[in-house]
Amino acid sequence: MGTKKLLMVNHVTLNQKFAFEAANSLGLDIYLASEELPEYLTDLVKEEKFIKTDPYNSQKLISAVVAFIESKDIDFDGIVSFSEHSVLETAELASALGKVSLPVHAARRSSINKLLQRHICKVNNIRVPKYKVIDNLDMLSTAVNAVGLPAVIKPIRGAKSYGVQKITKEDKKDDYKRLLKEVKYQTGEEMLDSFRNFTGYFLVEEYIEGGVYSADGLVQDGKITIAGTVEFIMGPEPYFAQEANYMPARLKKAEMDELVDYAKSVIRALGFNNCGFHCEMRYSKSGPVLIEIAARLPGGPLQRGYIEAFGNDLTKALIKLVLGEKISLDGKVKKYILQKAKFLRKEGKLSELKASLDISKVRGVKEFKMILNKGDSIKVYPEIPVPLYYVFLSTESAKSLENLENKVADSIFLEIS
Ligand SMILES: Nc1ncnc2c1ncn2[C@@H]1O[C@H](COP(=O)(O)OP(=O)(O)O)[C@@H](O)[C@H]1O
Ligand SMILES: [Mg+2]
Repeated sequence: MGTKKLLMVNHVTLNQKFAFEAANSLGLDIYLASEELPEYLTDLVKEEKFIKTDPYNSQKLISAVVAFIESKDIDFDGIVSFSEHSVLETAELASALGKVSLPVHAARRSSINKLLQRHICKVNNIRVPKYKVIDNLDMLSTAVNAVGLPAVIKPIRGAKSYGVQKITKEDKKDDYKRLLKEVKYQTGEEMLDSFRNFTGYFLVEEYIEGGVYSADGLVQDGKITIAGTVEFIMGPEPYFAQEANYMPARLKKAEMDELVDYAKSVIRALGFNNCGFHCEMRYSKSGPVLIEIAARLPGGPLQRGYIEAFGNDLTKALIKLVLGEKISLDGKVKKYILQKAKFLRKEGKLSELKASLDISKVRGVKEFKMILNKGDSIKVYPEIPVPLYYVFLSTESAKSLENLENKVADSIFLEIS
């Protein structure tokens, strides 16, 4: 048997280059079905292995891929996507071709449809936040009365927290004026790129108090393998930006087990199979509650985090899974890691920016990237904020992680005018 052929669907952004690198290091012959073959992938995907199509439209995607297979007289050994917005299209393509695939009905329940996933959980007696659906923001007040305050409003669609906000008593007093203005702006035309699949429906739901965690892993032939847990540090409310994450989650074993058991029950209810998953929960006083779950791996930085913290390469494991190879992950903690985007809270101009250390060279710093430059203006909500820097730290203990985080923060001097 020759080199195995892997078809990747949708390259999305530079962020996903690592998935192509993982496929390459597994010695696979890589094909790509996407809108374009970007310059940064030309070393990994040859021109003749690129299928130009619309990865957001399964009719077009399936037609183009089958035409390609027929004209080249080849067959793919596996089909995979790392993009939230192509979970459904990839499942339709892979199952139409009889390949290892997430079932199409389960793909519909990935986070592209947060309402359907809640509905299925509710039918299966799994606790989800109390919710109402509205198709018009004029109905906000009625929905808030039904779920109670504090509440959360969120557009029903893919990813990124734009348009997701906490609703408080103060908003009610304000007749929701500030809230509505910002939500309309954040879900409007300018932000369209983040809102692929937005249908105009919003969920208004009970605010669940508690820390934010995820359980991530893979399902192969009905067997759920958990790679580990992540703890997210959220930015200031009423917005919900995930600004940093710790791995492993800083929880007691019993709490961790409870989160994992809950995530497994959600996965079983939704019928996720032969896929990666990323299950986000809040750990409330009465236990874990689903925030959202996707039938794909967690984003790129988290996949890198899993390799460092647990030695679990989810990217390679998912590729092997779609190729029909048996996968295993050990999930033991190897390192304590923090991945953090440092945001500034004050609007203004960055008039001074200096570091007293060469941060990337400090022991335990795996990655450091200054994102803002001296002279840049600082954006704060309701604009989409840009972080000052991104850092990825890895240490032998939880305590030394904290010390290293402080060392990095203390070495940066800035002035805002
Ligand atoms: N019902 C809720 N209660 C408390 N926090 C919530 C609720 N729904 C969403 N959030 C917060 O908002 C963030 C973004 O919401 P999420 O449903 O994950 O949408 P997105 O697709 O934008 O990631 C979550 O990480 C969580 O912290
Ligand atoms: Mg989320």
